[in-house]
Amino acid sequence: MTQDTLLAPAAGDLAAEDTRWWRDAVIYQVYVRSFADSDGDGVGDLPGIRSRLPYLAGLGVDALWLTPFYVSPMADFGYDVADYRDVDPLFGTLADARDLIADAHAHGLRIIADIVPNHTSDRHAWFRAALAAPPGSPERARYIFRDGRGPDGAQPPNDWESVFGGPAWTRLPDGQWYLHLFAPEQPDLNWENPEVHAEFADVLKFWLDLGVDGFRVDVAHGMAKAPGLPDVGHADQVEMLGTAVLPYFDQDAVHGIHREWRRLLDSYDGERIAVAEAWAPTPERLAAYTRPDELHQAFNFHYLTAPWEAPGMREVIEESLRTAEAVGAPATWVLSNHDVKRHVTRYGGGERGLRRARAAALLTLALPGSSYVYQGEELGLPEVLDLPEEFQQDPQRLRGEGAGRDGCRVPLPWEGEEPPFGFGAGAASWLPIPTAWRDLTVAAQRDDPGSMLALYHEALRIRREHPALGDGDLRWLTGPPGTLVFVREAGDGDRRLACAINMGDRTVRVRVHGSPLLASGPLDVDGEHVHLPPDTALWWDAEEIA
Ligand code: NOJ
Repeated sequence: MTQDTLLAPAAGDLAAEDTRWWRDAVIYQVYVRSFADSDGDGVGDLPGIRSRLPYLAGLGVDALWLTPFYVSPMADFGYDVADYRDVDPLFGTLADARDLIADAHAHGLRIIADIVPNHTSDRHAWFRAALAAPPGSPERARYIFRDGRGPDGAQPPNDWESVFGGPAWTRLPDGQWYLHLFAPEQPDLNWENPEVHAEFADVLKFWLDLGVDGFRVDVAHGMAKAPGLPDVGHADQVEMLGTAVLPYFDQDAVHGIHREWRRLLDSYDGERIAVAEAWAPTPERLAAYTRPDELHQAFNFHYLTAPWEAPGMREVIEESLRTAEAVGAPATWVLSNHDVKRHVTRYGGGERGLRRARAAALLTLALPGSSYVYQGEELGLPEVLDLPEEFQQDPQRLRGEGAGRDGCRVPLPWEGEEPPFGFGAGAASWLPIPTAWRDLTVAAQRDDPGSMLALYHEALRIRREHPALGDGDLRWLTGPPGTLVFVREAGDGDRRLACAINMGDRTVRVRVHGSPLLASGPLDVDGEHVHLPPDTALWWDAEEIA
C-alpha cells in the first residue's frame, strides 16, 4: 500500500447515494480530545479532525461519530454539556463545526454527533436556575430533586448508586437532593417534563439543520426512571449494569422518547439516523431500541464483552442477528470505544492480543450489518496501563469505580520519532503518548503491508467492493473445534465470501474452495486446504460451499 492509495479520498456524492446507507456503514469513532490537535494546546479539536479527513476517507470508512464537542466544564470530558448549541472553545467554534461537516461530506463521509440527553452539566443555565430557585419550583422540575429520607431528610431519597461510584444523589444546602446517575456535575434531567422534550427536539433540529447525518444517543436507556423512584434493594449496582433491568435503566417508558425522536429524524431528508448507547440485559431488550419506529441502530455491547472462545462468540453473534432481524434492524458490531479497555489488551495484550485483534477485525467486518471502529484500533493500539498517576483524570476512576478510562483515550500517534508524534504542534498532549508508539504511528504503518493499518485498509476496501459483504444473511459452515466458519452470499447467490477464524489453541485444517482474499496472519496453503494457526482469520472468495 502506498501513501497515495491510503490517502486517496473515497469517491462519494452523499446526496445521490443509495438509501439505507446505515444498514452496512462502517462508522469510525473520533474521540475528539485525542484525535488531532490543530492549535498546539495538547487537546484534539475540530480543525484537527478536518485536517485529517483525507486519512479517514482513504481508510475507507463511511461515517464519523464525533464525541461531544459542545460547551462543557469537562467534568466528564464533554459528557457534561453546559450549552448544547455551541462548540467548546477548547475544540473550536461553531464555524469550525460547520466547516468540518461540509468538508467531511465533500470527502464522502457522514457525520454523527453525540447527543447527551440523560443529564446536563451542573453549569447548564437550567441547573443554575434550579439551584437558585426554591424546592417545588418549575426550575427544579426540569431535574430530579427530592427530599431526603429519615427524620431530618439527611438520607438520600433512595438507594440508587452512581455509575461512577458512590450514591447517585447529592444534597444541597437547602436540604433537597438531586439525582445524578453519573458524576455530581451531571444532574439527571426529568423526562416527564414536556419542557425537556421540547428543548431536546430543538437541539436536535439545530444540529440537523447544520447538516449532521445523525446522532449517537448517550445513555439512551436512562432517560426514563421507574415511577416513584423505588429502591433497587441491592448494593454494588454497577455490577448489575447491562445484566438487569434497574429502576433507572432500560425502563419501558424510555421507548416513547425514541419514537418521538425517530419522527423528528424522519422529517428530514437524507436518512438521518440515531444509534443508541444502551446497556440492556438481553439482546432482545437491546433490539427493542431499534424497532422500526425507534432508533436505527444500537451498540452491541454483548459482542464487545464476549470472551475469546468460539462457542460463546458464535452464540452472541447468532443472538444478535436473530434479535436484530426480528425487528428488521441491522446488527451492529463494536470491539472498542472510549469507555472500555482497548481490545488488543482485553484479548491478552502483546503479540497474542495483537494477533487476536487482527483476526477479530476480519471477523467483525465480515458479519452482516454495520461496524464501528474506535480511533486507533486500525493502528493496533493497546490500552496504556501505566499512565502516571498525575495524568489520570477520568471521573470514573476518581470516584473509585474501576481502573478508569484514561488508558483507552491516549492521543493518536501520527508520525515522527518522539511523543506527541504529530498529534499536535505543541510539545505535549493532554495524556502522554508512550514512546514505544513510535512503531505504531500512521506514518510507520502506512507503507508496511504487514501492519494493522494495511489490514484495515485492505479489509475495508474488500468490504466496499465485495457484493456479499455488508447487509444480508450469514450461513454457518462446519469447521474444526475452536473455529467459526461462515459464508456470506450476495443477493443473487453469484458471489460468496467465506470467513474462518481459529479461536482455539492449535492449528487446524480448513477446506477453502476458492481464492484466499485476505488473512490476518501467516498461514500455509495446501491445495484446497489451509492450515489456520491459532488466533488467525481468513477471508476467501468462495466458489463452492462444501
Ligand atoms: C456514556 C459515555 O460513553 C461515557 O463516556 C460517559 O461518561 C457516560 N455515558 C455519561 O455521559
